[in-house]
Amino acid sequence: MLLAQISDLHIKPPGALAYRRVDTAASLARTIARLNALTPRPDAVLMTGDLVDQGSVEEYRHLKTLLDTLEIPYWLLIGNHDAREPLREVFADRPELREGGAFIQYAVDLGPLRVIALDSMQPGQSAGTLCAERLAWLAQQLDAARGKPAIVALHHPPFDCGIGHMDAIRLDDSAAQAFETLVARHPNVERVLCGHVHRPMFVRFGGTIAAAVPAPAHQVTLDLAPDAPSTFTLEPPAFALHRYDAQGGIVTHHGYVDTFDGPYPFHEPSGELIA
Ligand SMILES: [Fe+2]
Repeated sequence: MLLAQISDLHIKPPGALAYRRVDTAASLARTIARLNALTPRPDAVLMTGDLVDQGSVEEYRHLKTLLDTLEIPYWLLIGNHDAREPLREVFADRPELREGGAFIQYAVDLGPLRVIALDSMQPGQSAGTLCAERLAWLAQQLDAARGKPAIVALHHPPFDCGIGHMDAIRLDDSAAQAFETLVARHPNVERVLCGHVHRPMFVRFGGTIAAAVPAPAHQVTLDLAPDAPSTFTLEPPAFALHRYDAQGGIVTHHGYVDTFDGPYPFHEPSGELIA
């Protein structure tokens, strides 16, 4: 089972640049072409929020047009830049987006993996939370997933990463603690998968591994100074590829969207290592 993860697409209306600089639509188009061309091809693509930049219907229409070229089944989560009703309006053909009542959250089986998608958004805020209703829903879903390898996906990381301006807008402390307590009771959770921080990160969390992924467009600057300014860079766009098998669990790879020189052989045609 191969699950691709992309996060923080930040799609704008056609022709508009994010932060007056980033052509996020062009980046997503290249990401889609790359995912479509992967061999073996991923079985599904999980998108962990900030699908669009301002939460408008126009942006979701643009996103949908771009995603129409993705030849792999995909699943959407929301982040702080998203808006629930415009997303539901444009993706009216996706029943899972309505399953969660007031929230956009659902559980889905992707091959042997049960993916539990959580809504950590609070309208008008950059930081994330999980209210009592969402935590109760998660507890039910985790109980229902007992014995199955599971992924819990949400936009906001429930951990500090050291990039101060991102830590200020992560999942709030009380939600993160309640979330960790729940996850710790379910050793079948193979990963907690997040976005939001536009960088690859791994941390021990609730007895499992929590991870964030790089973005398919702009990255948050790697600056661990406590007062680091809130800036981004155009480091290479990237995605995660989670490979699951029953014996080894999940191994997470990162791949770049763009192509680079190579591949070159390590060995001579004779089989000898090139000296
Ligand atoms: Fe983002």
